[in-house]
Amino acid sequence: MTHSLEKSSNVVWHQSTVNRKRREEKNQHKSVVLWFTGLSGSGKSTLAHAVEEQLYQLGLNTFVLDGDNVRHGLNKDLSFSDTDRKENIRRISEAAKLMLEAGIITLTAFISPFREERAMARSLMPHGDFLEIHCYCPLEVCETRDVKGLYKKARNGEIKDFTGISSPYEAPTNPELRIDTHALSLEKSVQQVISLLRARHILPDKEIN
Ligand code: ADX
Repeated sequence: MTHSLEKSSNVVWHQSTVNRKRREEKNQHKSVVLWFTGLSGSGKSTLAHAVEEQLYQLGLNTFVLDGDNVRHGLNKDLSFSDTDRKENIRRISEAAKLMLEAGIITLTAFISPFREERAMARSLMPHGDFLEIHCYCPLEVCETRDVKGLYKKARNGEIKDFTGISSPYEAPTNPELRIDTHALSLEKSVQQVISLLRARHILPDKEIN
């Protein structure tokens, strides 16, 4: 089954009286999209959830959109072909945009291997509301860790189009933040993200503890 991505005619945008600004005022913090990208096993989900935990403890409104989880539901019809990965990112970026409007600090953890799709996601959000975080970890390290056993399967030809093995990963050239997850502790990595949020005035400009 294929669907046209053309907008249907006869649909009119409804302007909400409860808008992002009012939600942010109620929440007493701004919303933002933190877009984590990197190879499978580079630590995107671990870091996104650890940052969320820290923000939640500070009383902020957060949500993590996680690749594996979203592919259990909203995107369970999608494969790992280039076309389906693009559609995966298109849906997620639209979902993240809605969450931005809902006043939520949204953390997305998807490989999102293509520069063009990440640029498309960025272009959907107002300037400054999309912060790209590259979780950098060399392929050899991800493959040695092989937490889910997927690299081994990919090498054996049991999984096709596997990122880093039989499908490309285009590293960000100018992300807001690059974290060397193989070299930095989880705690220090979390602190880097928190510092970014402070620098962007999403969090108050003071020490957390
Ligand atoms: S993306 O490329 O479309 O952004 P996404 O982040 O949603 O990928 O899903 C990646 C997760 O799916 C990986 O962490 C891994 O657990 C699993 N996976 C299963 N098959 C593949 C594959 N062929 N390539 C990459 N990841 C895969």
